[in-house]
Amino acid sequence: MSIKVNVEFLAKDAIKAVKRGDIIIVVDILRCSSTIITALANGAKAVIPVKTLSEARRIRSKNPGYLLAGERDGLKPRGFELGNSPLEYIPERVFGRTIVLTTTSGTRALTYSAGARWVLVGAFLNARSVAEKSVALAGEEGVNISLVQSGTNGMFSLEDFIGSGAIIDRMPKEELDLTDSAHAALLAFKQSEKDLYNNLLKSSHSKRLMKIGFDKDIKFSSQLDVSSITPIYKDGAIIVDKIEAVKR
Ligand code: MLT
Repeated sequence: MSIKVNVEFLAKDAIKAVKRGDIIIVVDILRCSSTIITALANGAKAVIPVKTLSEARRIRSKNPGYLLAGERDGLKPRGFELGNSPLEYIPERVFGRTIVLTTTSGTRALTYSAGARWVLVGAFLNARSVAEKSVALAGEEGVNISLVQSGTNGMFSLEDFIGSGAIIDRMPKEELDLTDSAHAALLAFKQSEKDLYNNLLKSSHSKRLMKIGFDKDIKFSSQLDVSSITPIYKDGAIIVDKIEAVKR
């Protein structure tokens, strides 16, 4: 039986994928997925994604050893130790630590997905490993795959669309049945893969990140297949069993 692969354009549509029983891959290229992959690759023990600043602060006050991380309007909130730049998540800061993370769209998409049996985190950085893992799991469990784009402030986002296409490109095609949205994402990736960085710069979120000084994050997040990490979100925390540092 073939595995259907679908792309949901908006974070809230994760709920539909959960109802269908799909394996979910949450994609937030700029920057939540890229940050989570980098944190875990650099030795963080777990990332706990939450929707609100107050929830994050509450969890941290009960667990003083946790790192408080995230962004609002792209910037580190007051009293937080880490923002949402993957470049901040170096081993010296995150190794062995549990991180409570709240971001505008990415952690929202993750919490919408929480009811699924399998929720994976995908980006360009780990496109091949998350693609292979999702197809292996879908084959074992006889279910389909949905890539859920986190989007930007509730809207469609170009970088998540191209990122979804990169992950689909790395799935073994003979076993797959792509929906129109999955085919479209794949075509967008094929069209832009030779110059991912400059194509990502066309997105509205990239333009905003550039304006507030995070151009290096876009370059970093546009690297393809540099990590073999596949983060898995289960029972409220994102963990990984294989640690391999992201190549810079
Ligand atoms: C988000 O989750 O909304 C993004 O990661 C925002 C950002 O780039 O900081």
